[in-house]
Amino acid sequence: MQIPWWKGSVIYQIYPRSFQDSNNDGIGDLQGIISRLDYLQWLGVDAIWLSPIFKSPMKDFGYDISDYRGIDPMFGSLEDFRNLLQKAHERKIKVIIDQVYNHTSDQHPWFLESMSSKDNPKADWYIWVDGKKGKPPNNWLSYFGGSAWEWCEQREQYYLHLFVKEQPDLNWRNPDMVEAVMESITYWLDMGVDGFRFDVVNMFYKDIFLRDDPLVEGRNSKIDFENYYRVFDNDRPETLLAVEKINDLVNQYKERVTIGEVGSPMGLPAYFLYTMPGRLDLAFNFQFKEITTYSPEDYKKLIRDTESLFQNIAWPSYVLGNHDSKRFTERFDDSNDKKGNLQILASMLLTMKGTVFIYYGEEIGMEDALIPFERIVDPAGKNLWPDYQGRDSARTPMQWDENPYASFSTVEPWLPVTKDYLSLNVKAQMSDPDSLLSFYKKLISLRKNNDCIKYGAIEFIDIDPDVMAYTRSYQNEKVLVLLNFAQRTITIKASLLNEYSKVLLNNKSKENIDKLLEPNEVTILQ
Ligand code: NOJ
Repeated sequence: MQIPWWKGSVIYQIYPRSFQDSNNDGIGDLQGIISRLDYLQWLGVDAIWLSPIFKSPMKDFGYDISDYRGIDPMFGSLEDFRNLLQKAHERKIKVIIDQVYNHTSDQHPWFLESMSSKDNPKADWYIWVDGKKGKPPNNWLSYFGGSAWEWCEQREQYYLHLFVKEQPDLNWRNPDMVEAVMESITYWLDMGVDGFRFDVVNMFYKDIFLRDDPLVEGRNSKIDFENYYRVFDNDRPETLLAVEKINDLVNQYKERVTIGEVGSPMGLPAYFLYTMPGRLDLAFNFQFKEITTYSPEDYKKLIRDTESLFQNIAWPSYVLGNHDSKRFTERFDDSNDKKGNLQILASMLLTMKGTVFIYYGEEIGMEDALIPFERIVDPAGKNLWPDYQGRDSARTPMQWDENPYASFSTVEPWLPVTKDYLSLNVKAQMSDPDSLLSFYKKLISLRKNNDCIKYGAIEFIDIDPDVMAYTRSYQNEKVLVLLNFAQRTITIKASLLNEYSKVLLNNKSKENIDKLLEPNEVTILQ
């Protein structure tokens, strides 16, 4: 059987507002992305995933969609999108789009109709509940602060919104609504997109009795979602049936991928549950992002746990960053060899068994920007400041070169460019064979051309607590990956290296197998 293209592939996440502006309004767009496809082809990624590009009032920067089938004029037109699809395909790059079906914008015609009365045809397409103004039906919280319930004067009822109040939650118990969602998925499948990333897919169904989420023992009932077990507004078992329905639809088309954002407090077991046969192809494993230590131990534990749970039943995935988290580069602010630290993590990611995701800018070591409160635009940041400062800092413009605004735009961008763009930019790093970008390119190319690294079984070898060592084996081939996290030189037993004959990649320019591992050394042998 042919192995599906997405297994072992490298998927590059683009945050379209921040990748490349082509019409000088300070906001990235589709023509901008098209103009950078040559770069992505040079880098060697298999696919791009675009965060939402659909019509939206932008209360949550596109995750509040008001038309599932239209492109927001800010990003371009449907014609531009078809163009992007075609040009990406010409370069053998697949295109994955972001689908948000837990909620719509409050400006979506479905919601406008639904809120207009209690007996219109779409009255039941959202989650409406009787109650008394000022007394929400239960204790569910919005992820972006405050109660998840908003009073609607017109219907004299509450509606549910797990995110901002302009993002009302759809009612997946209404079959007509579900049909409309399936039609929208079909529309994009017919257009030829290569797959979907489904936003908060584990939240589609809510408890039918709207039970209060239980308080975590010892916590107070202050409005803070960490204080509750979110068991009744998340991860309801019915959601798995919705996922199976989506899978059945997508499987009628060849070579498409379904990726779930499973924002479940359960973590690993939930990712597994959503990717069992007949469900989604992939679910992001967010747990690399949570590891803040710089030593192999926590990473190894996570990978071992993933392997023992997923076995050959489901296919894992790994990410180091995305548009909802701080960039992982900030962990190394105090290091005297940041590039070395980043090379170690990039090598771990790109030699993992699974499908891996790169968030734009990771390949040049982009940093978080310091955004003052007055410039914060992320609703989560605005509502939860200062406890939480929001997600803007990791969404700043891509850094292309040393020109003003890093050539992202010719005008002041919607978010500031980070202060390091003069050295951390694509142009400077492309021409430097020792740059992080050049190293990413080599890693991606190695992964692409080596089935062991793409598909092989992974097995750890214990050498030293500071060295992450593992083999990847596939058919009769074997690759050894050695990552020295330590800030000292470590000697490897010669007997461990005997069965390997060549160096596939080394970040210290070593061409021959060497038993001495320098600090932050990466060596990949075959
Ligand atoms: C998860 C997305 O990744 C995030 O950016 C968004 O704000 C929420 N879902 C709501 O759609």
